[in-house]
Amino acid sequence: MIILGIETSCDETAAAVVKDGTTILSSVISSQIEIHHRYGGVVPELASRKHIESVVPVVDEAIKTSGRSVSQLDAVAVTRGPGLVGALLVGFSFAKAYAYALDIPWVGVNHLEAHINSVFLESDSPPFPFVALLASGGHTGIYHVSSHTSIELMGQTRDDAAGEAFDKVAKILNLGYPGGVVIDRLSQSGDATKIEFPRSFLEKSTFDFSFSGIKTAVNRYVMTHPESVKDQIADIAAGFQEAVVDVLAYKILNAASKKKCDHIALVGGVAANRRLREKVIADAARIGIRVYVPSLHLCGDNAAMIGAVGYHYLKAGKVSNLTDDVFSRNR
Ligand code: KG4
Ligand code: ZN
Repeated sequence: MIILGIETSCDETAAAVVKDGTTILSSVISSQIEIHHRYGGVVPELASRKHIESVVPVVDEAIKTSGRSVSQLDAVAVTRGPGLVGALLVGFSFAKAYAYALDIPWVGVNHLEAHINSVFLESDSPPFPFVALLASGGHTGIYHVSSHTSIELMGQTRDDAAGEAFDKVAKILNLGYPGGVVIDRLSQSGDATKIEFPRSFLEKSTFDFSFSGIKTAVNRYVMTHPESVKDQIADIAAGFQEAVVDVLAYKILNAASKKKCDHIALVGGVAANRRLREKVIADAARIGIRVYVPSLHLCGDNAAMIGAVGYHYLKAGKVSNLTDDVFSRNR
């Protein structure tokens, strides 16, 4: 089954052609980073407008580079939510019209399920069941995954998402938006032990997270050390990153042992973090657990993962109809 995937939930306009939920024939991502960069975060109205400009050329490019023609598409899958409503509506409305015109089925999919299914776009993918840590700019949660679409939420952030914490700390340190990649890179030349930031485990037994305290702690440190901060940026970045990674790694390993799973997946934008990958892989190896992390281009928002999960919706007979709408928050 050849599926066109479309993603417009936040600040990436993406389209991909995916075969049988596992093989990427093409994947095109048009990022809006340059537009939102100067505001230090995504401006929803600007995002929607840019999606409108980009969606047709991005889809055309995805089809052109897939080696298939429009008439060979079997279905369209598109992000239905969660995300920015105005942004979602662009891809969603486009997908409805496109599929209607081609007279093929289409399906609206959950963005978080799509991130979890991104691991199946790699040749080495986890067997069911496994536990997944999904950490991105909008979401941070731990899931028990027993099939492509049977996904149980074990815990999630009570305030900021992990990626949001990276972005806000980068803003405090004047490093620009999005902050994750910059903090990741800077940390390599910093010493994570120089400045200790708090680790918020909440109650150790829960799989919930809280990242607003650490962001405040970094802000307080910067305010109280105005003279020395500029020479300590790399150490602050490394200390902050280590604190976030410690909590994420502890909770996902705990979740694996609670569910007696020997397989862990790390997905979402923050799964691109070098230190997170390194620590979870090393800690898991010590207790015989295997870790699966998609390639960097599949961690952040992309449409290949939308095509991948769409395949499983369609195989299970789920199709959308023209009266369906987008949703902003997970239900
Ligand atoms: O999955 P994603 O592209 O979009 C959402 O669904 O939110 O994730 C974007 C988030 C941003 O907050 C970004 O700063 C973070 O992922 N991120 C990283 C890294 N690369 C991207 N965070 C830490 N380390 C990275 N290397
Ligand atoms: Zn995402």
